[in-house]
Amino acid sequence: MSLLITGATGFIGRHLCTRLTTDQHTVLALLRDPDRQLPRLREQVEALGGDGKRIHALYGDLDQPGLGIDTPPADITAIIHLGARFAWQLDRDSARRTNVAGSLAVAELAARLGCRLVFISGFMLENHEHLQRLGIHTHAPAQTRWEDVYRRAGGYEASKLEAAFAVRALAESRGLELVEVQPATVAGHSQSGDLDPTQPLYSLMDNLARGRLALIPGTPDHWLPLVAVDHLAALITRAATTEQPPTRLLALDPQTPPLHELLARLAPPLGRKAPRRFIPIGLLSALLRLPGLPRLMNTWPEALHFIQPTRFDTRISEDFAAAQGLVAPPMARVIHASAHCYANQGHIRAQPRPA
Ligand SMILES: NC(=O)c1ccc[n+]([C@@H]2O[C@H](COP(=O)([O-])OP(=O)(O)OC[C@H]3O[C@@H](n4cnc5c(N)ncnc54)[C@H](OP(=O)(O)O)[C@@H]3O)[C@@H](O)[C@H]2O)c1
Repeated sequence: MSLLITGATGFIGRHLCTRLTTDQHTVLALLRDPDRQLPRLREQVEALGGDGKRIHALYGDLDQPGLGIDTPPADITAIIHLGARFAWQLDRDSARRTNVAGSLAVAELAARLGCRLVFISGFMLENHEHLQRLGIHTHAPAQTRWEDVYRRAGGYEASKLEAAFAVRALAESRGLELVEVQPATVAGHSQSGDLDPTQPLYSLMDNLARGRLALIPGTPDHWLPLVAVDHLAALITRAATTEQPPTRLLALDPQTPPLHELLARLAPPLGRKAPRRFIPIGLLSALLRLPGLPRLMNTWPEALHFIQPTRFDTRISEDFAAAQGLVAPPMARVIHASAHCYANQGHIRAQPRPA
């Protein structure tokens, strides 16, 4: 099968290209700078055990009208849309341009090509109370005052939510085959622990290792749901290549421990003691509004939304994974591998994402 992928050079994208090429699929990566990015991507995929020769490039930019593509590619069976600006403190216009308008342009392309669109949204789309608190009318999204949602959620999360509702509406009106994969926060590879320094879980480990996490955000019930990057890549692969997958796949491991336990498991390999006392999320958010504190603590108030007490129904994606012969790696091993990989790299500082 020939698959067009946006965001192939990102953390999930590289692992997805590895899975797809290992499964003998051909990948056409939409890249902003193909001459520079394609050789590097091929090298990275080879290093991860995939087949770099099966990856080809197409120039394209989510920020340009029609993605800046002159001639649409032929023989594409599915588009996997991972590309996004993923950063805290993202301004509304940039977030909307890349994440909302860019997603709609990708969906338009899929409709023109008559192929399936696998759209990567996020697990918070299944936290209905949270969506209501943000002011989203889930049954009548057109009535949502998105400027309020951007104010409450920040540019990244708001634009991902707006994009999901906009893409669903476009798919409905154009008869587009849409599969939405909704990942939890992505953890490292279940064997190697590989995790980019720009990933939120990496920042959490970095904060713990550098003694910036003296208190546990939330209550004993709060958690940061995780999914191993290799399991996510396998799920996305099947979502793109299997006949009639479910229309929504929540990629979240319900075995993820509560945050206090996650920190207790991460701390020993990082040579630290885990914090034991809790701080209410509301109080922490208020403190993080003090100028300079977020940078000092390497924590932004909008990142705290993803730490919450809601539990999710994952039966549809678990049944799909089981039918596909996919077994989620034990979360204890994923956490262990991620922490050891961080520690073995000599504590490379978490890299703030450019907004
Ligand atoms: N990581 C998580 O915990 C998580 C959880 C839930 C959902 N997601 C979603 O999963 C997707 C991938 O996440 P990730 O962690 O792999 O992100 P990432 O490492 O930041 O990668 C982002 C990708 O998007 C591309 N991109 C950004 N702006 C672009 C533009 N204007 N035109 C074309 N490509 C552009 C980047 O390309 P360049 O290399 O050219 O910059 C890169 O390949 C995102 O949609 C994110 O919202 C991630």
